[in-house]
Amino acid sequence: MCASAGNLGQALAWSGRGRGPDVTVVASRAAPAAKLDRIRVLGARLELVDAVPPFDAVLIALGGGALATGVGHVVKACAPEVEVICVQPLGAPAMTRSWHQRRVVTTESTDTIADGVAGRRPIPAVLDDLLLVADDAVLVEEASPRP
Ligand SMILES: Cc1ncc(COP(=O)(O)O)c(C=O)c1O
Repeated sequence: MCASAGNLGQALAWSGRGRGPDVTVVASRAAPAAKLDRIRVLGARLELVDAVPPFDAVLIALGGGALATGVGHVVKACAPEVEVICVQPLGAPAMTRSWHQRRVVTTESTDTIADGVAGRRPIPAVLDDLLLVADDAVLVEEASPRP
């Protein structure tokens, strides 16, 4: 199952065709008809929806901050009431600490399996941008709680 504006849905429908698993694509009714037709022709079940349901917050993985500032600017431009929350590993907290202290905070090392978000030296201009669009920045542990 996937949510798609048309392209991913076609790809998933094509991949699933003849291989066994049923493919369901959820797409906007406003997506291009040619793409929706192609998804159907490829054998996927198509569920059409009118609009994205309202949501309260967007959680964004935070490393150096470029992703979060970009997404954050779009969110705040389109839906200013939606909270932008940055999430960073506890073992790589440089940008989160910087955001809270409103100044660049560097760290000597990182300790995380998430190498894509393991920055140590935030860029001042990115921090300035992030301070404009993020509502909060939180650190999370990597270990899953044991039942
Ligand atoms: C999957 C993923 N999420 C989040 C990030 C963080 O992006 P940024 O460094 O712009 O904060 C990265 C960075 O490469 C990434 O690979």
